[in-house]
Amino acid sequence: MSPSQDFVSFDRAAHFYDQTRGFPPDAQADIGATIARAGDLNAHSRVLEIAIGTGRVALPLARHLGAAVHGVDISAGMLAHLLAKRGDAALYPAQADVYHLPYADGAFDAVLAVHIFHLLPDFDRLDRELRRVLVRGGAVLHCWNTNDSAILRARNNVLAEAGGRPATWQKASEYLPDAGWRETAHLTYDYTTQQAPEDMIKSFQDRVWSSTWTMSDEELQRRTNDISAQLRAIYDDLSQPVPIKNQFHATRYVLPD
Ligand SMILES: C[S@@+](CC[C@H](N)C(=O)[O-])C[C@H]1O[C@@H](n2cnc3c(N)ncnc32)[C@H](O)[C@@H]1O
Repeated sequence: MSPSQDFVSFDRAAHFYDQTRGFPPDAQADIGATIARAGDLNAHSRVLEIAIGTGRVALPLARHLGAAVHGVDISAGMLAHLLAKRGDAALYPAQADVYHLPYADGAFDAVLAVHIFHLLPDFDRLDRELRRVLVRGGAVLHCWNTNDSAILRARNNVLAEAGGRPATWQKASEYLPDAGWRETAHLTYDYTTQQAPEDMIKSFQDRVWSSTWTMSDEELQRRTNDISAQLRAIYDDLSQPVPIKNQFHATRYVLPD
């Protein structure tokens, strides 16, 4: 396949994705259980994750369900990492884009979407595919993780100022209701991590987030300095890890009859 330039492949992020976005090992089983509960899923549910990436979310879900989870992604690099850690879990990835899902009409009871809406230039096209591959009455499960730490806020302030994709991230929770999908469940799972403020500065400088990939070196340096200044105003020692309270959200949507 040859994705157009509109598509944001994560090939360049594949080798550091799990390290920078992964869940703590002891949270993974609970995250799988949270999605299953919010989505009303069981071992017989036919589930697809669009933009499955390294299987960060699909793997805990497949383990929890003890059933198959299918997935697509345009990034061969991300899928290679998924395959390397899949073990005996029933995860079945395909390299495909979300606008051309290689599955029959009505093939799935649920489609999982995690941290992808902000990367897609055409939600209406995706929506048509979601409606096509879902069985009548099927659900879209929109999940995301976040935290309200001062460390993440410093990065988000800078990204908001930069414009572009961060703005679409804010909108990610609105696409489905705007298109007529009705929310029927929302669960939140809380977990704690540790992060040193200087890790955020370094990650930004290392272009860990896709919103930095189109920045010039000059802009990247300027915005890194902004983050650094914000964090220096809050923390005496940037190398000292602080506890971060995170939330994983799982929301279920269906189409009204
Ligand atoms: C932020 S990552 C999220 C991965 C996974 N859902 C997670 O939460 O860990 C976004 C993923 O979307 C994939 N992607 C971006 N645009 C895509 C498209 N049009 N079709 C399929 N995958 C796409 C990228 O390659 C990347 O793996």
